[in-house]
Formats: sequence, C-alpha cells, structure tokens
Amino acid sequence: MLVSAKEMLTKAKAGKYAVGQFNINNLEWTKSILLTAEELKSPVILGVSEGAGKYMTGYKTVSAMVSAMVEELGITVPVALHLDHGSYEGAKACIEAGFSSIMFDGSHYPIDENIAKTKELVAICEEKGISIEAEVGSIGGEEDGVVGKGECADPDECKMVADLGVTMLAAGIGNIHGKYPENWEGLSFETLDAIQAKTGDMPLVLHGGTGIPEDMIKKAISLGVAKINVNTECQLAFQEATRKYIEAGKDLEGKGFDPRKLLAPGAEAIKATVKEKMELFGSVGKA
Ligand code: 13P
Repeated sequence: MLVSAKEMLTKAKAGKYAVGQFNINNLEWTKSILLTAEELKSPVILGVSEGAGKYMTGYKTVSAMVSAMVEELGITVPVALHLDHGSYEGAKACIEAGFSSIMFDGSHYPIDENIAKTKELVAICEEKGISIEAEVGSIGGEEDGVVGKGECADPDECKMVADLGVTMLAAGIGNIHGKYPENWEGLSFETLDAIQAKTGDMPLVLHGGTGIPEDMIKKAISLGVAKINVNTECQLAFQEATRKYIEAGKDLEGKGFDPRKLLAPGAEAIKATVKEKMELFGSVGKA
C-alpha cells in the first residue's frame, strides 16, 4: 500500500535524518529503488515528474504499476508515490489517479497566487490523507526543459506558505537541478537557518540532491532538511553502466537480443546509487 509522506518526514525531522526521493522513469528504475529500500529497511519516496508521467503513458499507469509492484515484491517499508514539480492541473490529476503525495510547484506564480492555489490543494489533500509539498523560491537548473538559476527563498514567504498546512516545504537555498557548475557558490546555510527558525517543525525539502558534497548534505539535515531529491545521479549511473555493457559487446552475446539483460547493469547501478544516498541521508533502518 502506498502511504502519505507525512509520518515518515515527521519522524525524519525529529530524528535528524532525511528520506530520499528518487525519481522513476520506468519499471526497472522503480523495481531497483523499491528493492533497495526494502533491503536497507528505509522509507522511500518515488518521485514522478510530469514528463516521466507522460512517458509512462499517464499517471494512472504509474499509480497502478507502483501499487502492484509494492504488493507483488512484498515491500514492507513505507513507500510514498509523489508528483515532482507538479502544475496545478497535474496535481489534481495525480490525486485522482491514486498518488499518495503531490508537489505543487507554484514558485513561478506571484506569491499571492502561489498561496491561493496551494491553499486549495491543501484542502483537497487533507480530505484524502495525501501529503503535499509546496515550493518557495525557484530551484535552478534544468528540469523537463525548464531552466532556472538557483535563488534563495524569502524566509517570511516560507512561513506564509508553511502556515497553509502543507506537509513539507521546498525552499530554494542556492541549490539547482542537474550537475552543479564549477563556479557554484554552494548552499546558503544562512538562508536555511532563517527558514527553519520561521517554520519550526516543518520538514524542509532539498531539491537537486545530485552532486552536493557530503558535508553540505549533512549540514542541511542538521538544519531541518528531512527530504532530499535525487534524479540526475541515477540517470548518470544508469547511462554509464549501460554504455559499458554495450561497449564490451555483451549485448550481442548469447542467443538473440534480450532487453532484460541489456537493462540489468543499469538497474544494478541504480541500486548502488540509491544505497549510497540512503546511507548518507541516514534513513537506513528507519522504516
Ligand atoms: P537532481 O536531478 O539534481 O538530482 O535533482 C532532483 C530533483 O530535485 C527532483 O525534483
């Protein structure tokens, strides 16, 4: 059964560790993440971008696949299925399709409009027992073709949005999606500290988990980050493992072409990446 992310994040914030959100793109990706979470007894959040949702033919397919996989693999750790950077319409469609958690990214709207739309979605989620993430201050980098520059959120705006009753809050603190550029200035812990001071127990979310140095991850967790999103690192690991397999000519060995064998090294590489992150985030054994 899929669960809301509320309980796992409340526990993570109180216990000073973070739950990883790993984005999924297909069946192999999903299976690798679920098996690793189960092996490590870690709670986990599966993120689905709107682009990935479309690729997998729609949110209903994703929801049905993940729910059935949790059951048939005998997964016992808490699993939340979460819309990543959802639009207002996307959020509603995922609620309808059976997701257990959504993110409404209203960060590109003026703050009043972000608040009004977030408020409406909070009411729907509350009624259905679904967790909801809001965003203040855009998170830079490229995601589904949208490129932005990492900015720092205004702590007062964070407080306004947190007070709407969201489950978790993503606030820009100089983080960006994808690979960090050479001249990246690092996370703004001053901003994070100010946001946590205003928002209290609210679990904070760190997007752009790929490529953030370990010491910064640990410091962010100590300052209230309870959920960390990772996507690009799994993609890079998958691509590298698949490339090596093909370059070694292994895809041509044996009888005929076997797509299951071709995808296996990438799936193993995702497992290794997820394991490394869960250990770093401190969520191992917390299920
Ligand atoms: P990365 O792709 O940088 O790991 O970021 C993932 C993310 O924040 C998804 O919302």
